[in-house]
Amino acid sequence: MSVVDEIKAQLDIVDLISESVKLRHTGKNYTGFCPFHANTRTPAFVVFPETQTWRCFGQCNEGGDIFGFVMKKEGWEFSETLKYLAEKAGVTLVEYSPEDKTDKDLQDKLAELLERAALYFRQQMLETSPGRETLDYLHQRGLTDQTIKIFGLGHAPDGWDGLMLHLKNLGFDEFVMVEAGLITERESGGYYDRFRNRLMIPIRNTYGKMVGFGGRVLNPNDVPKYINSPKTALFDKGRLLYGLDQARQSIRTNNQVVIVEGYMDAIACHQANFANVVSPMGTALTEDQFRLVKKFTRRIVLALDPDAAGEKATLRGLETARQIMDQDAELRFDARGLLHFEARLNADIRIATLPGGKDPDEIVLDDPDAWQNIISSAKPVVEHVMETLVAARDINDAKVKSEIAAQVLPLIEDVPNRVEREAYRQRLARLIKVDERALLAPAPELTRMRNKRSSQKQTQPQDTRKAPELSRSNRVLEKYSVQFLYKDPEKIYQLDHFLQSFELESFSHEDFLESDFKIVMGTIEKSLEQEEYAPSEYVEINLSETILDELSQVHKLHDPSIDVSEQKGLADLFRTVLRLRLTRVNDHINDLLFLQNEVSEEDNELALVYQAEAMELIKTRKQIDSALQSPAAAGRGKKTW
Ligand code: GTP
Ligand code: MN
Repeated sequence: MSVVDEIKAQLDIVDLISESVKLRHTGKNYTGFCPFHANTRTPAFVVFPETQTWRCFGQCNEGGDIFGFVMKKEGWEFSETLKYLAEKAGVTLVEYSPEDKTDKDLQDKLAELLERAALYFRQQMLETSPGRETLDYLHQRGLTDQTIKIFGLGHAPDGWDGLMLHLKNLGFDEFVMVEAGLITERESGGYYDRFRNRLMIPIRNTYGKMVGFGGRVLNPNDVPKYINSPKTALFDKGRLLYGLDQARQSIRTNNQVVIVEGYMDAIACHQANFANVVSPMGTALTEDQFRLVKKFTRRIVLALDPDAAGEKATLRGLETARQIMDQDAELRFDARGLLHFEARLNADIRIATLPGGKDPDEIVLDDPDAWQNIISSAKPVVEHVMETLVAARDINDAKVKSEIAAQVLPLIEDVPNRVEREAYRQRLARLIKVDERALLAPAPELTRMRNKRSSQKQTQPQDTRKAPELSRSNRVLEKYSVQFLYKDPEKIYQLDHFLQSFELESFSHEDFLESDFKIVMGTIEKSLEQEEYAPSEYVEINLSETILDELSQVHKLHDPSIDVSEQKGLADLFRTVLRLRLTRVNDHINDLLFLQNEVSEEDNELALVYQAEAMELIKTRKQIDSALQSPAAAGRGKKTW
């Protein structure tokens, strides 16, 4: 039994709430005036001894257990409440030692070191003759001294230890330099500079803190063209966007971010006064990166270098880039992936294709108006795909028509909004000159493809662990969903996408009655709004800091038998959450009908309010029912969520 359970077993909610609220016995429940808002005539605050919960059916429309009540009443954090109630219940708490501070100290040290290194590289560029050649090269590419200064560009000399010696003289030791990714250990012992004879591009995080470097070749015969800092405590290229510190302000004011492919492109855009531009660092875009910019805007334009026709349409280019340069990446990044990001992150993603023949940095510096036009004419993902596919082919050929339809229709199906889906279908029909109805009735080709897809899904291994069944208690359902999301917080995007497709509200801590799970869920939500840590890391760190009982211990929340990776696991989550909502909704409907009876004599108006609320919930129940019956919840969905 967890400490929370123990406390709950010791304390009775009716006693506890009676201390501050005058309760009246009505049927099997208790009612009173809600202590959380100024009261009108009617007692809309109900305490349910059976479930040991409370709810205000009036203004606040909130509810929970004893923890939630005390937290709300006293304005306390969970940990404070836990201490208070533990004492009241005579339960002893075991204190946790907080995370040690050394991580933070090391990170500050690394940032300082990198800052010194950036200064060194800049000095090398301005004060040595090979450095001045690099400077000339930058001038030749059209960059001004001011731009070079703002971005802190520099030159790494061609020796093996220039930087290392410099930093040693400043009093840093090799350990820190290795940790910062500036030097590398030789197999034979000793160290050498990681960046040699390269143009150095300092990389900062969103808030301007130094985190790493990109180094571009100066000698065209050298490979690879770019070297980045290795993964360090500060540098994880999948979680950073180059230039965001400089672009942040402008992204906000323009309510738009433009993502280009290369460092040089981002820098040139800034020089041309397009300051809302950032770039990834040689990897395809990750969901983390989308989340970084989403703090500042929902409107994202991807300005992609032109690729071979066709490839470009499905955005294979990016996917391939990722496979080559970033083997351990797990996110699929193609048109379909983009659509999912868009829906999950509630973003507006558009694609601008740059004309071939010129580097983006040249275009923007030569002809800023042309650049502006390219960005303004960026298209939504589906439209971009349709148009590029059509532009490259002869659409009078019937076979081509059906091929294009086969590529585009699954994408359209993935668009969550029905009206949008309809519009895309019409547009596709016009583009490939077919009757729209032909696109609704699947061509034999399409049916075959779809069948193939869904039969592949069914061969996936069966999950060993079942989601809790409907009859189980609330607590079990809550626990399962929180365990699942604890393991992989980002699955909430898929969950929300699923819920939204049935017009159900997003999943949140509000779905929980039990305060301990509510807290974990709240932390999971916060983990997705920050960028310093991986979401699951954040959850773990924050729980161990704020929650004192074994909830914070991974083994309690972490259930290895829950499979978050497979379609089947996700279906279990969907089902659990739906059941959680279903029990909740059913309870509420019953409570409301009960209350309606209770008050109808005294207060007809309020009775009608209760009735209306119950009707609303009955509607929600229908939506939950149909979601429960959908293939995605049954674990045999054809959609990849
Ligand atoms: P210029 O060729 O100087 O215009 O640089 P660019 O930034 O435009 O480079 P390019 O378009 O060739 O590549 C786009 C981005 O991909 C670069 O900015 C790098 O972030 C990344 N990149 C390119 N080549 C490599 C490579 O060899 N290794 C790594 N790790 N990243 C690369
Ligand atoms: Mn380039």
